[in-house]
Amino acid sequence: GLGSAYDYGHYGVLLKTNVKNEWWRAMIQERDDIVALDSAIILHPKTWEASGHLGGFSDPLVQCLGKCKQRFREDHLREAQPEGELKCPVCGGELTPPRHFNLMFKTHHGPVEDEGSEVYLRPETAQGIFLNFKNALQTSRKRPPFGIAQVGKSFRNEITPGNFIFRTREFEQMEMEFFVPPDAAPEWYDHWKDERRRWYEELGIRPDHLRMREHDQDELSHYSSATADVEYLFPMGWSELEGVANRGNFDLTQHAQFSGEKLQYVDSATGDRYVPHVIEPAAGADRATLAFMVDAYDEEQVEGRERVLLRLHPRLAPVKVAVLPLVNKDGQPEKARAIYEDLRKRMPAEYDAGGSIGKRYRRQDEIGTPWGVTVDHQTMDDDTVTLRDRDSLDQSRIAIHELGPELEERLIRPWHSPKLC
Ligand code: GAP
Repeated sequence: GLGSAYDYGHYGVLLKTNVKNEWWRAMIQERDDIVALDSAIILHPKTWEASGHLGGFSDPLVQCLGKCKQRFREDHLREAQPEGELKCPVCGGELTPPRHFNLMFKTHHGPVEDEGSEVYLRPETAQGIFLNFKNALQTSRKRPPFGIAQVGKSFRNEITPGNFIFRTREFEQMEMEFFVPPDAAPEWYDHWKDERRRWYEELGIRPDHLRMREHDQDELSHYSSATADVEYLFPMGWSELEGVANRGNFDLTQHAQFSGEKLQYVDSATGDRYVPHVIEPAAGADRATLAFMVDAYDEEQVEGRERVLLRLHPRLAPVKVAVLPLVNKDGQPEKARAIYEDLRKRMPAEYDAGGSIGKRYRRQDEIGTPWGVTVDHQTMDDDTVTLRDRDSLDQSRIAIHELGPELEERLIRPWHSPKLC
């Protein structure tokens, strides 16, 4: 495989899908002022002229002239060493002067590979949203303040990918552009900063592992009048998890100019017209998945043995409930299988009959399954099962017919990481 490119296996896919679904829930299901979009990845190349990506979307690249010949981002090296001449952080060698390197992947559209067919893989999902602003306004019966949300792959030819799935060249973004009357922009900027922090906390990230960092004036992107990063305390230190930006009317004005379309809101009652301002919460699905995993990881001693577990929010857990027969005989496997087949209609469930019961519990703990259901000899007499809680290890007895409704109710209950206690 390529370096810094990762494939997600079974539980990884389920976990990241849950992260994206929770984002959609917060943006669409639990609000009525945002609509969904799935725009093309390869857009008209003029898009990137209008957005400023062709001119300005570059990072300063330096290369070691010493032994190791490695490449670095000059701005990252400067963060570690604010003053003086920079040297290679690996071998101490001299560095080349910085060269600006455009981060967009280039390809060709159609069979002829000439300059006229050059296109780019999108480096952010946001621009597809701006291109659809007029469409959404005309068809969705929304008016500012309203938003358009999109989840999908973006591509950046990063100079220094790394830290596992934190920075890769192919990644998924979860972005929402919220169009507001110009004078309401500051208020909505504050709203989205609060909302986005709350989203991570409600899904179990410990509040002391999150902070909001407002950008200094000289850090702001060309389009932004204010930006704050939601930062997470990753194992390598505080790093950006998500950006919330006040983009003003930069994007709609630029796209109007390059496309010749009027991108405005006209109030039919008052005749008022204006170019909406945009507040943008822009998150990474892979980076959020990494943060949820890191925050949930725990090791503890239980009866003299180490237990490794993911204390994931139940809604993020890849599997919600595991159904296990205590022994592989006396009708227990058949009974357990029937319970599993019933539960999986309501939520992702697993049936596991292989190995000792202790080992099967531990396997589920490691993938963060919040609940375990055990079928034992008593089940065969009275149709009750043991319900085990991943975090407290409490075991209670519950009637089989109550299992489904009980677990569904637990899935919508507020949840806090027991690591807080
Ligand atoms: N539309 C604005 C925008 O794209 P960004 O801060 O460049 O802003 C938003 O990206 C989020 O996308 C980041 O906070 C991060 O979570 C994710 N992201 C950006 N580059 C990434 C990369 N190379 N690998 C993984 N995630 C990345």
